[in-house]
Amino acid sequence: MNKKYRKAVIAGNWKMNMVPSEVKGFVEQLRPLMPKAKTCEVVLCAPYTHITSLRRAMKDSRISVGAEDLSLHDKGAYTGEVSAAMLEDMGTQYVIVGHSERRQYHGETDFMVGEKAAIVLEHGMTPIICVGESLEQRERELTMEYIRYQVLAALSYIPDNKLRQCVIAYEPIWAIGTGKTATAEQAQEVCECIRRVIRERRGARVARSISILYGGSMNAKNAEELLSMPDIDGGLIGGASLKPDDFSKIIAAVAAVTGEESK
Ligand code: PGA
Repeated sequence: MNKKYRKAVIAGNWKMNMVPSEVKGFVEQLRPLMPKAKTCEVVLCAPYTHITSLRRAMKDSRISVGAEDLSLHDKGAYTGEVSAAMLEDMGTQYVIVGHSERRQYHGETDFMVGEKAAIVLEHGMTPIICVGESLEQRERELTMEYIRYQVLAALSYIPDNKLRQCVIAYEPIWAIGTGKTATAEQAQEVCECIRRVIRERRGARVARSISILYGGSMNAKNAEELLSMPDIDGGLIGGASLKPDDFSKIIAAVAAVTGEESK
């Protein structure tokens, strides 16, 4: 499908790494390495504690700030939780929802993920909705059915007029943090399936305008091949987003694929 209808997104997911006082130094290293061509939206998703420092450090840059999760609740007696209103007030633009580590360690279900995505949208932020199969599901040839279900469950919470503001990230669990990347063909096959599910349920116009990212051991070396696939519009990057040099090379790979000058 024609990529001109959607934006490329390279989003870092720092997970539980770095401390807030390291943020400024990281951004100072990243800024001069950033490719000049504005071929893609660049996002850094960080722990709640880092968001204010990140916002400050990235002032006047084209990098957006994201969170890694949010509460299902608006406000009230939920000790330790962080609400969408709090994130919005801090200037957060993106929020990852349904990352497999949240699903695995915090029991998040497909329905909770959909609900969270809807809350993010209500607060004017962009959800990055994660889906992905386990190794066992892949080996038992259940990948497509499982992904289809995950996408439909999440989308069932999202009204038509908000759907095109969502970003979907396909992250096979077996590829996350393992150094084992899906091949470009495997990743394309699933991203194409995600777009097909959206087209069947919500129409061709929205399907062609939704950005679908690949995540799972994407790095400076394999980014270009993955990003050149027709249904992969960007990446959700864990480990490599903690290294300014590697992260900037992945951003440059978007420009290389679209044929724009990278520096
Ligand atoms: P990874 O993580 O790039 O370190 O595999 C990706 C993610 O979990 O979003």
